[in-house]
Amino acid sequence: MASSTKFFYVLVAVCAIIASIACCNSRATIPDSDGVAANLTAGGFTSGLNLYSSVFLEELDVTRSDFPADFTFGVATSAGQTEGSAREGGRGPSTWDHRVDILPDAIINSDKFSTAIDSYRLYKEDIKIIKELGVNSYRFSISWSRILPKGSLSGGINQEGVDHYNSLIDELIRNGIKPFVTILHSDFPQALEEKYGGYLNHSFVNDFKDYSEICFKSFGDRVKNWFTVNEPTVSAVYGYELGIAPPGKCSLKEGVCVFGSPENCLVPAGPCNFGGDSSTEPYIVAHNQILAHATAAKLYKEKYQAQQKGEIGIVLASKYYVPLSESHEDKIAAERLFDFNLGWFMEPFVYGDYPKSMKESVKERLPSFSAQEKSLIKGCLDFVGINYYTSTYARHKTPPPFEQLRYSLDVSAEETGMKDGVFLGMDREGHWPEGLQKLMEYIKEKYQNPKIYISENGLFTIRNDELSLADQLKDPERISFIVRHLYRLDKAIKNGVNVKGYFYWSLFDDFEWGMGFLHRYGLYYIDFDHNNRRIPKQSAEWFKAFLQSDHVTRASS
Ligand SMILES: *[C@@H]1O[C@H](CO)[C@@H](O)[C@H](O)[C@H]1NC(C)=O
Ligand SMILES: *[C@@H]1O[C@H](CO)[C@@H](O)[C@H](O)[C@H]1NC(C)=O
Repeated sequence: MASSTKFFYVLVAVCAIIASIACCNSRATIPDSDGVAANLTAGGFTSGLNLYSSVFLEELDVTRSDFPADFTFGVATSAGQTEGSAREGGRGPSTWDHRVDILPDAIINSDKFSTAIDSYRLYKEDIKIIKELGVNSYRFSISWSRILPKGSLSGGINQEGVDHYNSLIDELIRNGIKPFVTILHSDFPQALEEKYGGYLNHSFVNDFKDYSEICFKSFGDRVKNWFTVNEPTVSAVYGYELGIAPPGKCSLKEGVCVFGSPENCLVPAGPCNFGGDSSTEPYIVAHNQILAHATAAKLYKEKYQAQQKGEIGIVLASKYYVPLSESHEDKIAAERLFDFNLGWFMEPFVYGDYPKSMKESVKERLPSFSAQEKSLIKGCLDFVGINYYTSTYARHKTPPPFEQLRYSLDVSAEETGMKDGVFLGMDREGHWPEGLQKLMEYIKEKYQNPKIYISENGLFTIRNDELSLADQLKDPERISFIVRHLYRLDKAIKNGVNVKGYFYWSLFDDFEWGMGFLHRYGLYYIDFDHNNRRIPKQSAEWFKAFLQSDHVTRASS
């Protein structure tokens, strides 16, 4: 998640991890008493895994050759989480830079945000690493305020920023790596926030269109895959209902806990010191992001696609929601959770309007599309990027009476990671690769079998500088996470889902927004004390061997 987005899932997982630390002392490669050991071999590389259950052995049985030869295997990052050089090269501040300035204590390692992992300067070295890893594609994002420091065209283009991305893209192409570019990945220009209230104002749609057009014009001769916006739900809900991401708007009473329990709250909402209306603004922000995507996609299709021959989509995050019980109420609650997360965007893009359950529940607080907007948004995705991290159980929950209406209560459902004290997926972090397969099959059925890229999927470990470097590089849990998800993805493809690619999040340990550098997602370890040196973890060695080899074998006990 953490792409923050992942932020949300991250935090859910943090709770699970904290629970496991409390009960068991250590986390990495815990040989469970009823777990099972397995050796996973790809090419010349063998990894000893400890699985939580023998049920998972089946999921180790996947090879590169199970996927089509032209399948996209990639790694993902985003500008705000890796580039650094935040105040250099003519870049203007993003809303995250601003949040770190005004609320440094709300963000772990906030002092390091402006340097991140220095990828702006180290991009050539990074591309060598990507090439060495053997993936064929790289998903990265462009920093809006590096191209347009003031956010809008009228504020001027920063040629140094354009030049940087040109060099980055050229270097990728030279190395045979396909660029997949996210146009907006959380780092919204602060200047537009101050000018007119950012996402809340329809002016954002026009500025996003102008910015996107600069990208198409400048890079579209080489970039054939565009993601407009990453995880619009996070900007809407975290930024405008809960106030835990920029611009930190909300109107909640004291004491709302986002993650954890009221007595032991890990992440409280707010502080709601920046204005806002949690009952309406998340919906307006999502609405404008839908229109922004559709407007940029229309522009691309009408003016650039015939010549540049690329495709354009969006990135949405979703879990798979499993009803907690067989009751009709819980089944409908799970459907509502799908609608309020995935359907919020997919339903407009595929069918031209919001899900029925959202209209019924949110009523007049949900903006509506004009007839003209409906025809603009319907059918505007060439593909959809899905960020999948984990799944949850869903339980019906009537909102408490007299509570202020807001997104998280409007859904009338509660997510819970456990049933009868056991995590969904059985391992302690609640990862459930089968949920990926089920989500893929759900999307195929519900949304007319769209082309899909898994734009993110990954596992974090908690930073622990007490461990030796050698121990920090051992990450069999990440290897089994990837291989099990690939197995499930392959199953989905064999069942007719149109999945074209898989991007691991993340290439490197990076700045995970509010969680700072506490969460390490990387295939490559970042040595923060030594100029952000990149060092392959075992998972990088393994992934490389997997990609090169058709012969993956496992021996199990
Ligand atoms: C894995 O390989 C090691 C070293 O070759 C061996 O000692 C161990 O028994 C193997 N474990 C399994 C489960 O096959
Ligand atoms: C949107 O921004 C424009 C300036 O660009 C301003 O005139 C208008 O009042 C704003 N609208 C809202 C709803 O804030």
